[in-house]
Amino acid sequence: MRVVDIIQKKRDKQPLSDAEIRFLLENYLSGDVPDYQLSAFLMAVYFNGMNDEELFEFTDVMMNSGDLIDFAGINRFLIDKHSTGGVGDKTSIALAPLLSAFGIGTAKLSGKGLGHTGGTIDKFESIAGFSFPQTREELVNVVNSTGIGIMGYSDSIVPLDKQLYALRDVTGTVPSIPLIASSIMSKKLAVHADGIILDVKVGNGAFMKDIDQAKKLADTMLRIGKRFDRNIMVVLSNMDQPLGNAVGNSLEVIEAIETLKGLGPEDFTELVVTLAGIALLMKKDVKTLEEGIEKANDMINSDVVLDNLKAFIKACGGDEKIVNDYTRLPIGRETREVVSMKEGYIHRIMAEDIGKAAMILGAGRATKDDVIDHGVGVVLRKKVGDTVQTGESLATIYYNDMEHVDSANKMILGAYKVEPHETSTPLVIKEILK
Ligand code: URA
Repeated sequence: MRVVDIIQKKRDKQPLSDAEIRFLLENYLSGDVPDYQLSAFLMAVYFNGMNDEELFEFTDVMMNSGDLIDFAGINRFLIDKHSTGGVGDKTSIALAPLLSAFGIGTAKLSGKGLGHTGGTIDKFESIAGFSFPQTREELVNVVNSTGIGIMGYSDSIVPLDKQLYALRDVTGTVPSIPLIASSIMSKKLAVHADGIILDVKVGNGAFMKDIDQAKKLADTMLRIGKRFDRNIMVVLSNMDQPLGNAVGNSLEVIEAIETLKGLGPEDFTELVVTLAGIALLMKKDVKTLEEGIEKANDMINSDVVLDNLKAFIKACGGDEKIVNDYTRLPIGRETREVVSMKEGYIHRIMAEDIGKAAMILGAGRATKDDVIDHGVGVVLRKKVGDTVQTGESLATIYYNDMEHVDSANKMILGAYKVEPHETSTPLVIKEILK
């Protein structure tokens, strides 16, 4: 078998056999296929896609390129909730302790933030002393004692994805539905949860800018999940404005906790209870999603949920007192209000620009080696559908260093579109697929 023949077949839209896909990927992983050949192959996939048989084999080889985690020894029904990435997405921080109150465990690997989207790891690391479980054993212990199992990706899980993603990043081949779907699903399949819930973000702040593309990605991931016999559901959720109000690590931790106290923003609360409702449905604790959502809504604001979060933070070496005392979190020393120049109704808030503003303040990374300032970020005071007066605050910037405040202010102001006519509040859940 020759790699050049495989590339040519893909270029000419001829189907590849399982053996050809396996040969190509396994030899790339072992270093026998050079980057330039794999780059050409990825570009051919970018243009010509993959059929389902190719996609399943591609995902299978990816998944088996490293360790598989099966969580033997955990007695809970385990959910892996994954978001495709957005701005202000602190869902896991609120969802995991809520699920734990229903006896549902979370088993998930989380990432660090890059670019305008934040990562769950960075958010938890705002908490003094906090460090995620490093090994499978530590994770199993933490899940058994708290119901919450979130850890960072380790290099031993789907190492092929790491290599492929780095190559895609520099060859313009990231935005390919089969490549994104196999990348995400190989990592979901390598960790054996009882239910996979995918939150595919749709809108200007997301990978998928429009609903048709998002549905294609969702369908592709559902087909992969089913092929591998997994219990899987997908939520398409709005990312045409940031989720909730807070963007930035500590600020998001606070908002997630406030939500568990029943004081969270409406859109974020709705997403969290819907995801919890789906988990209850998957576990067959309820007959309908509506029933699941009702149960989740009733559970919010109970001490059990906050105690679960405290137990998780403590088990990870963190200061659990932050749950009742936010002054123990690092928060930007200075604030600046971003003031509206117009009066009217908020029609749009470009989520990506808000994410970038938070990033230049220090809340995120432009490159993977950047160091984060956990205390800085943005809190939106107005969301789509709200009214605003001239001179009223649209958002508050939290900062420690003046250097980028003017630029962040400008970006946030530019992200808001204020019009004289009324508009409605967008729905956070666009569709649920299974
Ligand atoms: N997230 C992933 O894990 N992989 C992709 O290819 C895109 C988003």
